[in-house]
Amino acid sequence: MKRIAIFASGNGSNFQAIVDAFEKGALDGRPALCVCDKPQAFVIERAKKAGIPLLVAAPKDFESKAEYEKHIGERLEAEGIDLICLAGYMRIIGPVLLEKYGGRIINIHPSLLPAFKGAHAIRDAFEYGVKVFGVTIHFVNETLDGGKIISQEAVPYTGNDIEELEGMIHKVEHHLYPSTINMLLKETRD
Ligand code: GRF
Repeated sequence: MKRIAIFASGNGSNFQAIVDAFEKGALDGRPALCVCDKPQAFVIERAKKAGIPLLVAAPKDFESKAEYEKHIGERLEAEGIDLICLAGYMRIIGPVLLEKYGGRIINIHPSLLPAFKGAHAIRDAFEYGVKVFGVTIHFVNETLDGGKIISQEAVPYTGNDIEELEGMIHKVEHHLYPSTINMLLKETRD
């Protein structure tokens, strides 16, 4: 079974959705490592509870971004990771990891890319007056929310309640991420 690392910086509801899919027997890979760059993030509790190996590393404790990524890369290698899933990981992946895992790193973003890149995509789209929101899963390259699109799902919404909208978008994320991982792993199954 292919081995998946999930990178997260915060709440980790997408991490949880991937783990839940695995526990239900609905994931074609194994969540084998959680990588977190924020020592206070709630995703750490989730990983501990689920018994998923955890690497917590804060970039400020390293001399450079390259050193930080080297440290992560060594652990990824030790764990035999095949696919990296960014799930609310609030950093741009640098050359060290891209060189090692290029084409095997994916990200989930809460908009229909290439519209509304960045950390506040839902709010930005809502304030713009968008009527069809959505979720994108894409390969990761050196640019923010760039890289070839793998899957998308639209979320039509014409209401006025951003919390309701956020809930709808996250619900879509939580099924689209596991199903997209399955699609990718099936394509690369050896
Ligand atoms: C999600 O909306 C994801 O699309 C974005 O960051 C958010 C992470 O949420 N990249 P969570 O930490 O998985 O709950």
